[in-house]
Amino acid sequence: MKGIVLAGGNGTRLYPATLAINKHFLPVYNKPMIYYPLSVLMLSGIREILLISTPRDTGSFKSVLGDGSRLGIKIDYAVQERPGGLAEALIIGEKFINGGPVCMALGDNIFFGHGLPNVLGKAVSSIEAEGGAHVLAASVPDPERFGIIEFDAQGKALSVEEKPKKPKSNWAVTGLYFFDGQCSQIAKSIKPSARGELEITTVNAHYLEQGKLKASALGRGFAWFDAGTHDSLIEAGEFISVIENRTGLMVGCVEEIAFRNGWIGPDALAAIANSIGLNGYGKYLLSLLKA
Ligand code: DAU
Repeated sequence: MKGIVLAGGNGTRLYPATLAINKHFLPVYNKPMIYYPLSVLMLSGIREILLISTPRDTGSFKSVLGDGSRLGIKIDYAVQERPGGLAEALIIGEKFINGGPVCMALGDNIFFGHGLPNVLGKAVSSIEAEGGAHVLAASVPDPERFGIIEFDAQGKALSVEEKPKKPKSNWAVTGLYFFDGQCSQIAKSIKPSARGELEITTVNAHYLEQGKLKASALGRGFAWFDAGTHDSLIEAGEFISVIENRTGLMVGCVEEIAFRNGWIGPDALAAIANSIGLNGYGKYLLSLLKA
């Protein structure tokens, strides 16, 4: 399976903090926000990734992440001219997707939970074996803010709506979407919503009509953040800080995941650590070599 990270948009909800800097470079505690969705793709076993961002910022992503070889992965880049909606990424990425299965991660979504690799692995296997679309659902107190899904005990979706005024459930569709190879064609067939965007929820609704939309519920052991507002950004940072300081283990550390996945060896990890220097992050990477 391939992966797409969507890191464009104007970040207007975070103005003036994002006037000069792309939202996905803002720190969530001790790492740029983009590390978190990238780490989720890597935890899903995905090594071929397309990063989509704005005409202004794509070059900065290239200079931070490069071609991915440092992490034992391959990162390509594409530009979204204007924020035309999440589903537009499936059109921009059509050649990259090339009719195969793909996982799209929103650049401002952060996931944490024991057993997350298991949940991700199940979603990947279900798409590879049966096709269709698979989303992760998280319970939220403010369902009007999100895509909202209803599903049965087997995870078969019953309804999906974007930011409904009268939500049918409290299950938000999180920003991690697993699709089969039909997704680009579906995205090309849909019309922009009232807010002028090609909505990912409309793509999901097409899969629902075919009876091919599934959801996995992220239960009590999971935390999910959409770090796109000032409050959620600070909450996510506080959460990561508490977890990391209590456990001594990092969340969203892409170098660690590359190492544990066997995609880079000890020498490569040591070289990265030394290039970062002996701050907390560099020391943490070096400590992995002794474990
Ligand atoms: O976070 C989950 C929610 O994300 C879902 O529940 C909703 O169904 C989905 O529509 C989306 O809602 P948001 O209103 O939060 O999306 P937002 O506009 O914040 O965009 C999400 C990310 O995608 C953000 O990191 C910016 C980036 N983006 C957004 C748009 C519209 C792009 O790169 N290009 C775009 O055109």
